[in-house]
Amino acid sequence: MSGALSQNPAEAQRAALVADALTGLSAERKTLPCKWLYDAEGTRLFEAITNLPEYYPTRTEVAILEQCGPEIARAIGPGAAVVEFGPGDGAKAVQLLQQLDSPVVYLPVDIAPEWLAAAAARVKTAFPALRVQPVVADFTQPFDLAGRAEGSTTHLGFFPGSTIGNFEPADAIAFLRRARTSLRTGARMLLGADLVKEIPVLRAAYDDAAGVTAAFNLNLLARLNREAGADFDVSGFRHEARWNAVASRIEMHLVAQHAQSVRMAGRVFHFRAGESIHTESSHKYHPEHMRGLAAAAGWQVTGMWTDAGDNFSVWLLES
Ligand code: AVJ
Repeated sequence: MSGALSQNPAEAQRAALVADALTGLSAERKTLPCKWLYDAEGTRLFEAITNLPEYYPTRTEVAILEQCGPEIARAIGPGAAVVEFGPGDGAKAVQLLQQLDSPVVYLPVDIAPEWLAAAAARVKTAFPALRVQPVVADFTQPFDLAGRAEGSTTHLGFFPGSTIGNFEPADAIAFLRRARTSLRTGARMLLGADLVKEIPVLRAAYDDAAGVTAAFNLNLLARLNREAGADFDVSGFRHEARWNAVASRIEMHLVAQHAQSVRMAGRVFHFRAGESIHTESSHKYHPEHMRGLAAAAGWQVTGMWTDAGDNFSVWLLES
């Protein structure tokens, strides 16, 4: 890379957003990558989603980690290095570290240093004696622990929240395989995965009565206006949560309410009435499906925990 602009992280981020938006909106079936949902406003709205009555995944996963914590901790054993992929605010790490027997180090991995700092600070506050060593890296790519896990008995990857569900199955396998490589010998992985259930329950979780998920999805267009100089009429689009039975996933779409054109970065994009932008896929798994993904990536399943209603699952994988 050369030039002052491309070396400024905020500007590089903006350029990547514009590039992704140009590609996604030029496609026959328009799409935008879901990672761009999480600007400051999107992160705030997602946080609000996790507290909605309809959005069961977060509270169910927290309850599983709470209730099955001692058993999970026994399966993992003492002295773990906990490597969290995309730690968010670090709250889930605190919950896991509370349960584990003498963890030796917490290694949050994220591309965004400011998020890493927040997670690291939260864990430091909860466990002042614990070693905390952030790793600035794109966790979907191979990365090097570079001695940071020294003194640990096991390298435990932690990927909660069913974030894996945002990947297409082939990408989920590729992610799990790279994670196994990055974690190296004796790698293990504690993974949260949302389960298939009645369609109305799934749909409500992604189209809540208070309209928070709609605001979360529509914020992506407002973000393109703010950061990419687009001129979306946000009120000309509506949020839709679709169940795709073939792919076993909930899809979020932004549907044009009427024919319209949008300008961005010197280009014009036309929308037919009813045409949509696919903004997120959230895959829902049958247990055997998750077993298949893990096996295809070279992992063995050594533990699986669910809630009483079989709504959500937590998996322990070993390489
Ligand atoms: C954090 C990506 C797992 O797919 O359930 C919530 C994001 N999208 N409501 C999910 C989300 C709409 C969430 N993940």
